[in-house]
Amino acid sequence: MGEVDPDFIQSLEHRPKPRTIEPENIPLIDLSPLKSSSDANDLASLASEIGDACEKWGFFQVINHGVPLKCREKIESASRKFFALPREEKRKVSRDEVNPYGYYDTEHTKNVRDWKEVMDFTVQTPTTLPVSHEPDDRRLIELINQWPKDPPELREACEEHAKEMEKLAFKLLELIALSLGLKRDRLHGFFEDQTSRIRLNYYPPCPVPHLTLGVGRHKDAGVLTVLAQDDVGGLEVKRKSDGEWIFVNPIQNAYIINVGDIIQVWSNEKYESVEHRAMVNSEKARFSIPFFFNPAHYTWVEPLQELIHDQNQPKYKGYNWGKFLTTRNLGNFKKLAVENIQIAHFKT
Ligand code: OGA
Ligand code: NI
Repeated sequence: MGEVDPDFIQSLEHRPKPRTIEPENIPLIDLSPLKSSSDANDLASLASEIGDACEKWGFFQVINHGVPLKCREKIESASRKFFALPREEKRKVSRDEVNPYGYYDTEHTKNVRDWKEVMDFTVQTPTTLPVSHEPDDRRLIELINQWPKDPPELREACEEHAKEMEKLAFKLLELIALSLGLKRDRLHGFFEDQTSRIRLNYYPPCPVPHLTLGVGRHKDAGVLTVLAQDDVGGLEVKRKSDGEWIFVNPIQNAYIINVGDIIQVWSNEKYESVEHRAMVNSEKARFSIPFFFNPAHYTWVEPLQELIHDQNQPKYKGYNWGKFLTTRNLGNFKKLAVENIQIAHFKT
């Protein structure tokens, strides 16, 4: 990222406090019981393990998830090649106000503080989104990906990875539904016209790692996130019990799962979306690849009926996912031009 502007450093208001190293880590869950030979009991106990992790942490790692290693290696290597291109090349596929999918770097705007570059892809082509965040504007737009010329294998790598991520996300969704006492396929219908996306994150080495973050504290807005992080590490999760930031140990070929805001609403806050952030490193570049599992734009997000009773009244009024997402996308593009929309705005 070249020279560091001293004004930029001055403007950092979120410098991380020194953290205490805790031996505790987010739960590690073995998904082997999902193999077809397992019986209903194994599945029930796996669902309850996942339910506990969602309740206590909102985050867990999975192993024996069935995603082939070669698929991951392929996307990781294509992503490294892409980010190694000259900036002018990468900017040929920049996202803009109309299309939120494409390349983006933090040199675009002065008030973005994150130390990173990203490349976003939709999973379903085309992906339908509302044209604008204005509530009365009912126009929709069909969006397709902007594939860079280089590296040529990026498109196939992303498409294959997306299929695998989708399969894994549906399995996790079923386990979460079971853990909430719902039918296994209760949540599937929301994804028929899904707005899921894959993001390639590149965090270049940073000369002042103690002054900045790769990505500042935030929660993920969708249903679930399935993240592949490399062996450099840097992801930290806010522990629910005491608010301490906990480093997520990189585990080879594991995926990190977290509950997003939509599950918080669906579950009426039984499972909460948890804050997380990514640290940067002074020597090493870091790469990560989140898959954001999101429902159709027309989804009305509200606490699930089955979970509501006299002692558990709905904690949210409900909102339109497409409008929420479009407001966020625009907020990201224009930074501060639009209010940063939060699920807290829809609290009853
Ligand atoms: C994100 C995110 C963490 C990481 O992109 O939403 O939380 O480790 N990334 O890159
Ligand atoms: Ni995130």
